Amino acid sequence: MGGSREAFRLFFCAMTVQRAVNIDDLRKLAQRRVPRAVFDYIDGGADGEVTLRENCRAWEEILFRPRNAVATPQCDTRVNVLGRDLALPVILAPLGSSRMFHPTGELAAAKAAGNEGIAYTLSTFSGYSFSELAAASTAPLWYQLYLAGGREVVEATLASALRSNFKALAVTIDTNGPGMRERDFRNGAPQLMGKSLFAMLPFTSQVIVRPKWAAGFLMDRREAMHYANVIIPGKGPLPAADVQNSLRDSVVTWADLKWIRRAWPGPILVKGVSTGDDALALSTPASRA
Ligand SMILES: Cc1cc2nc3c(=O)[nH]c(=O)nc-3n(C[C@H](O)[C@H](O)[C@H](O)COP(=O)(O)O)c2cc1C
Repeated sequence: MGGSREAFRLFFCAMTVQRAVNIDDLRKLAQRRVPRAVFDYIDGGADGEVTLRENCRAWEEILFRPRNAVATPQCDTRVNVLGRDLALPVILAPLGSSRMFHPTGELAAAKAAGNEGIAYTLSTFSGYSFSELAAASTAPLWYQLYLAGGREVVEATLASALRSNFKALAVTIDTNGPGMRERDFRNGAPQLMGKSLFAMLPFTSQVIVRPKWAAGFLMDRREAMHYANVIIPGKGPLPAADVQNSLRDSVVTWADLKWIRRAWPGPILVKGVSTGDDALALSTPASRA
């Protein structure tokens, strides 16, 4: 009897955020909370997900080389990154369209980063504005840049990030268009972000069994469907439905890095350097001129 009660307790209580002990537990919770199309967008990679698997495998290859038989009463994990002390050598990466996961989206992630003493990188494709992030979070805030909307729009966006005290810029160079994310393609995920509510009809069966998510998403939809910091002159914030075209128009070249350097006085990180050759090209005086 005691055993079955314990099994019952474990079944119903085991999976809460408070009880999650690792990323895999959180992943299972996410799977239960959001519709499949949303979960696959977060969990999936491009094409056959070869790179995704390879990235996970590469992490597993990194092992600590412990110095044993020493007394370490206190571990100090602090590290100084771009002039700011972080509690851990961890920086939250930019995730576009986070309001689709939960209405608090980028705001909640940036707040959590502040509480834990680490930095947060805001995606170009954020549902929240720079000033909202700055008001909500104590984390050092970085901005991730896609060239959405063209040079003039980007220059205005960077000025706005600076006014909200964003500290560093991460320019993504490895996204020359939307990836062929096979799970999203199968699920029709881009339609979920469509301009009309009717676009959601094919998702009814997934959404109906996730009522909490559905209620939050529907109530938040008007704001979540726009990217607050990419303001297109005469039109307003970029609609999320335009994200695929926007990525196609956002190719960054070495020449672009030069005008971006002039538009952003703070530190710039280049995100998505995948080969030694590109790293070397970045470090040559010609690319920095
Ligand atoms: C759901 C999702 C959205 C992402 N959105 C962006 C983005 O807007 N801008 C960007 O530069 N990278 C984006 N990325 C890439 C991540 O910032 C990160 O580089 C990538 O996930 C690799 O890190 P990981 O192995 O820790 O997932 C996104 C990744 C995921 C999974």
